Amino acid sequence: MPVPNVTMNNKVQIPQVGLGLWHMRDEAECKAAVKTALDLGYTHFDTAQVYGNEAFLGEALKEAGAKRKDLFITTKIWNDNFWWDDIEPSLDESLEKLKTNYVDLLLLHFPVTETRGPAWRRMQDIYQSGKAKAIGVSNYTVRHLEELMATSGVVPAVNQIELHVYLQQPELLDFCKQHDIVVEAYSPLAHGYGLDNAALRTVAKKHSKSTAQIMLRWCIQQDTVVLPKSVTPERIKQNLELFDFELDGDDMQQLASLEQNLHTSWDPTHVQ
Ligand code: A2P
Repeated sequence: MPVPNVTMNNKVQIPQVGLGLWHMRDEAECKAAVKTALDLGYTHFDTAQVYGNEAFLGEALKEAGAKRKDLFITTKIWNDNFWWDDIEPSLDESLEKLKTNYVDLLLLHFPVTETRGPAWRRMQDIYQSGKAKAIGVSNYTVRHLEELMATSGVVPAVNQIELHVYLQQPELLDFCKQHDIVVEAYSPLAHGYGLDNAALRTVAKKHSKSTAQIMLRWCIQQDTVVLPKSVTPERIKQNLELFDFELDGDDMQQLASLEQNLHTSWDPTHVQ
């Protein structure tokens, strides 16, 4: 089944499943995963300056002969590069590694207290230049988004956050929906934590799916874009097969009970 697109607030479309490249540090493993994903029909790849694998992604896409216009590539400006004069040169470096002259989506990686305001203004210049077809943020809470919109008047296209059945973030999801900000779920499998859970197993059995697919489908039914990371061909394949079944009200109720406010990586809640 083809992967549906979600439309961002600037009318650019984003495929609802992407391969997350976080923790793919090994060159051969990363390139193999990207090629497997391409073969299986993935077109959306999510990397970041700090992941250290933009060059692996760029090379793998080139070696595979993928057409740029068929791809959706995201990268993220790392915290140290938020300074006014550093953002664009750092993006140029990323573009060189990615072997392209634009990214489909460029994000500020984290709400860095001192620099996030001017950085967001600089991102708008980059958007105007065409080097990024859409711009957004990552790890922003409601408070950070409110501040950003109040001070700039520019609504980000995307907020990429940690989201899964163990960290459901309903207020943030509602806020983003209200303001037409697409939410992207990173670590949608909670880094592999909790896949062997009784409630998940029950729902998985009912739909003849894996518990991982149930976790991903829960994100899809929150209208988010999911970015599961895997280097295992069978799992890369599974993680795309999310559109031939639907979780019903009972399933969603069972999954709602899994909430643990579990941040497996950063918790930006207290970032001033
Ligand atoms: P691997 O990369 O070895 O295949 P997240 O995307 O939440 O960060 O989760 C990534 C972790 O989940 C990785 O350890 C990855 O393992 C594992 N994983 C990815 N897809 C699946 C799947 N379909 N079933 C089980 N584990 C998975």
